Amino acid sequence: MKTSATAFLVLLAACQPLTPKVDSQPATQETGSYRGPSVCVPPSSKLSSDSSDFRQHYQAALSSNPVDSALSSLSPPAHFTQVIPAVFSGAQPKTQTHWQSLEQLGVRTIVSVDGARPNHERAQAVGLRYIHIPIGYDGIDDEQARALVDVFRASKGPWYFHCHHGKHRGPAAAAVATLLLADVLGWRAEAPRVVGSTRYQLKDAEDFMLRVGTSQDYAGLWRDLRDLDFDAIWQLPKAKLTAQAEVGDLATAMAELDRVYDRLKDIRKAGWVAPVNQPDLSPRQEARIMREGLENCAEAAKDEAEYGEQTDYQEWLNQGLVAARQLEKGLDAADVAKEMLDAQLRGVRQSCLDCHAVYRND
Ligand code: HEC
Repeated sequence: MKTSATAFLVLLAACQPLTPKVDSQPATQETGSYRGPSVCVPPSSKLSSDSSDFRQHYQAALSSNPVDSALSSLSPPAHFTQVIPAVFSGAQPKTQTHWQSLEQLGVRTIVSVDGARPNHERAQAVGLRYIHIPIGYDGIDDEQARALVDVFRASKGPWYFHCHHGKHRGPAAAAVATLLLADVLGWRAEAPRVVGSTRYQLKDAEDFMLRVGTSQDYAGLWRDLRDLDFDAIWQLPKAKLTAQAEVGDLATAMAELDRVYDRLKDIRKAGWVAPVNQPDLSPRQEARIMREGLENCAEAAKDEAEYGEQTDYQEWLNQGLVAARQLEKGLDAADVAKEMLDAQLRGVRQSCLDCHAVYRND
């Protein structure tokens, strides 16, 4: 169910008298009667006085967020979804229309949680600020969670959180950030039920991830949302947010593999020729990039103690490489059956899935 911006404004208004609570004040649960709009349960933990930054930024974001009326006429990136008013998640913006739609939806800050380098040039061209907080598929640690929520403190909204495809890491990051925001703004507690107001709790965040289709295979993403350690996270120093985070060689090489795999899928769907909407794609060249990408991954893995010694790891990489080489050769040959190319691409894909199940996903 979509929560309207009005409901959130009502809630914000109800919570206005809340001043940052001192450390000794424990979180209380309102159990019975509603005691008037000034009653707002304090956030769970030691919040510094900067909770007012969160509140001000969020309130300002709401007033510049024309989403309900604008959405139907725009084409934002795939899986574009509202978490709460002024907070969205989805896939990496690719086309000019995606970027323009984000801008027209009022988005001011875009947060990438993917390993790939964010496209700063395109973001700047439509006046958006980029923040880069790469996370893995295996979960979100306290520092990353702190950085994610600090986005609301240190940048202007509305905000758009994205990964590559927009279904797993992006929504999980947005859910974690939103639940922490709810904590600092006092929406997480069993608050007095002002008519038309709303709360935001773990279940709301989980429902959102279910709705966008975040896979249960990524157990760490679900676990870290569920077990969010509010006290520990608020005790961390404020995060230093950056437009371009350092990413390890392996994650960088993998992020590139993901993109070339998507292009090869499009080529396969078009019958192993350039797709109509991407006439510049060369099937042979993409197969070569896949093979080289897997070689880069093998190279990068050698430097990582965790993987370098593992025989199954090396084997999966080899299987992927063998399939990628066959695909490359097949595309070089004059009259190879398309079914053969399909099978080779499936072989490449299988190596990704097999290895990730053991070494990446939880
Ligand atoms: C032999 C093991 C192995 C194979 C094969 C493999 N991967 Fe990975 N992949 C990993 C590991 C390990 C990570 C986590 C790396 C890290 O976070 O440092 C990863 C991370 C990723 C990521 C996340 C990058 C990011 O944004 O942080 C993507 C996307 C990815 N792989 C795609 C692919 C695709 C597509 C294929 C197949 C074409 C593939 N991988 C093949 C082991 C593998």
